[in-house]
Amino acid sequence: MRAAWACGLGCLLLAAGVQETPTKYFEPAALPEEIVPLYGEAATYRAMTTSDRKATLEFNLSSLLKNSKVDRVVVVPYDSQRWYEPVEAKLEGKTIRVALQLNRDILIALDLGEVARNNYRAVSEMGAIKAALPRQLLPRICQVILCPAERFNADRIPERLPGLKKLPIDLKGMFPPVPVGPIDRPATVCDRCLDRPVNILPCLVWRCEGIIPPFWRTRVRRNIYSLTPAQITSLRAGVAAMKAKSASDPTSWLYQARMHAVDSGVPATLQDQCQHRQFFFFSWHRMFIYYFERILRKASGDPTLNLPYWNYTDVLAQGVLPEAFRLPADSGNSLYDSTRQAVYNNGAALPAADVSYSAGFNLINFTTTTSGAPSFGGRTVSAPAHFPPGGGTGQIEFSPHNNVHNDIGGDMARGESPRDPIFWLHHANIDRLWNRWIALGNGRTNPTTDTVWMSQTFTFFDENGAQVSLTGSQVLNTVAQLGYRYDDQPWWPFAIAKQLRVERRIIGTDVLAEVKQVVRLTKSRQDVAIPLPPKQVESLAKSREKKFERESLILQLKDVQYDAPVGLTYMLFFNLPEGRPNPDHTDPSFIGTLGFFGKTEHGHGGGEGVTRDLDVTKVVQNLKDISVLRLSVVPSYPGVSAERKDLQKMVAEMKPEGNPRFSQIVLLRLRYESDR
Ligand code: C2O
Repeated sequence: MRAAWACGLGCLLLAAGVQETPTKYFEPAALPEEIVPLYGEAATYRAMTTSDRKATLEFNLSSLLKNSKVDRVVVVPYDSQRWYEPVEAKLEGKTIRVALQLNRDILIALDLGEVARNNYRAVSEMGAIKAALPRQLLPRICQVILCPAERFNADRIPERLPGLKKLPIDLKGMFPPVPVGPIDRPATVCDRCLDRPVNILPCLVWRCEGIIPPFWRTRVRRNIYSLTPAQITSLRAGVAAMKAKSASDPTSWLYQARMHAVDSGVPATLQDQCQHRQFFFFSWHRMFIYYFERILRKASGDPTLNLPYWNYTDVLAQGVLPEAFRLPADSGNSLYDSTRQAVYNNGAALPAADVSYSAGFNLINFTTTTSGAPSFGGRTVSAPAHFPPGGGTGQIEFSPHNNVHNDIGGDMARGESPRDPIFWLHHANIDRLWNRWIALGNGRTNPTTDTVWMSQTFTFFDENGAQVSLTGSQVLNTVAQLGYRYDDQPWWPFAIAKQLRVERRIIGTDVLAEVKQVVRLTKSRQDVAIPLPPKQVESLAKSREKKFERESLILQLKDVQYDAPVGLTYMLFFNLPEGRPNPDHTDPSFIGTLGFFGKTEHGHGGGEGVTRDLDVTKVVQNLKDISVLRLSVVPSYPGVSAERKDLQKMVAEMKPEGNPRFSQIVLLRLRYESDR
């Protein structure tokens, strides 16, 4: 009776199709693919009553519960569309009784107590740093944590696995003080516990101890467009309360904004810290908004308040600033910011090109060490860096992140951008994209082998004004480590390793063309020719013949500079036919966008700006003729409906401010080592 084995693991999952059959073993096929259930012929259920579309079911778990005491039972209904809020059920002897809608399946999770929860957490932490673990330890881990065949005198992970102590990772922060084991169970889980974290991770949610809430209390960050009026009221109240605090109070609105960056005056403690243009971008901002959310919650007086996110990326109509942030348009509305570009405060949607994130999502590498190579999350650095010049910005940071700052304009376009309340919802969306990228799998992982990224400490203030620190290794998993998830994310914390595509190593870069010329961006389309030396035309033709096998072609715009917030984002095209009317991001020549964000207006000393890297491999592969290469830069204006004459007028008046420009174009070929 293998099923029971779930019990030793912290909890047991079993799923049941709700049918009217009086007694039946549950159907494993009813489970979504991601969950390989720890089940068996373990529980029987019986429909008690069937009214209209509801049934009361009685589950007999006795065979599962032979050897285990159960602290709690949680039932999670689901159907093919979604998961519903979990409900706690009562265990009466060895039986639970739940009322359910027909045609809805349920997942039953049993909490088997603290030690079992600890086992789960340990395995999940190991899963998260799997890439960093010494190879020879991997096969031992499950045996040591979940399924020991030997007896251990020690009950802490690092004592059981002394090899771990050599890792430059803060183990104390990763493993809770509760002991693991002893457990004597499930062969089916043991062999693959790290390969298929989903097998067991659903149970992780039971982690509690007040640090991480159990999963039915995992906080849910919701789409701002789905908030109830009462939730909006709480949000407003929280922001207003923070704004009312003195600017010297670390939990005040202004102090928090200046923790991001300081545009004028002297930074106070922990101010001017934001991480951009390198691989701390995602982790630092996750930590920053996490503590902000706690401060905001306390200030609002509403313990159920969570930070909402602004989903301009997936629902284009929601690219309109949420109404509560625009109306009423006066200082009595704590969510309103009058410095934004008028067109957006009046209800225009962000341009679709500007919020595209496919370039970032297509990549499987979080980071890179190669200059010019695009990455999801930014280049590696050896120490924190605020707004370093040069290359290395991650693709998501470029688009949509920088573009949204640039388009909304006003406060949002500056270092003190968190003055605008929409900043926090913008960053919740960026944070959500990080979780979604990981969930795509196929080799997408956090840079857990990079000890700098994993162990660099960043410090913030919590809701009581106390200093608190986190490292990258502590923010890998929002559910397990920080106790929150997004409303479109399954509630179990996981990374599904669908298959392991290993990042290819770059073994060389060739410069194919270089154009030194200052290009100033204007209100209209501009074309810049990129002449290729004859030798390079030939070499590029060869690459095309081989379909860029083990190669990619990168276009770099170097020394991007501007002197003040720009307000317009630009679409970039490669060999866009002349005279094509209103090209947009759906055009086959589209290669990406150029937005502007940072403290560039303060100068960098050397006058070196930022580098924008774009992958143009596909576009160039599909060109008919490569003898002439040309970059087109076209401003991206919000599209507005014909009825909104007022908005049309505003769009017509939009022009770039701050003299945006770049002064060099480089066409680069990256060569990768052959697949292993
Ligand atoms: Cu540090 Cu969106 O900014």
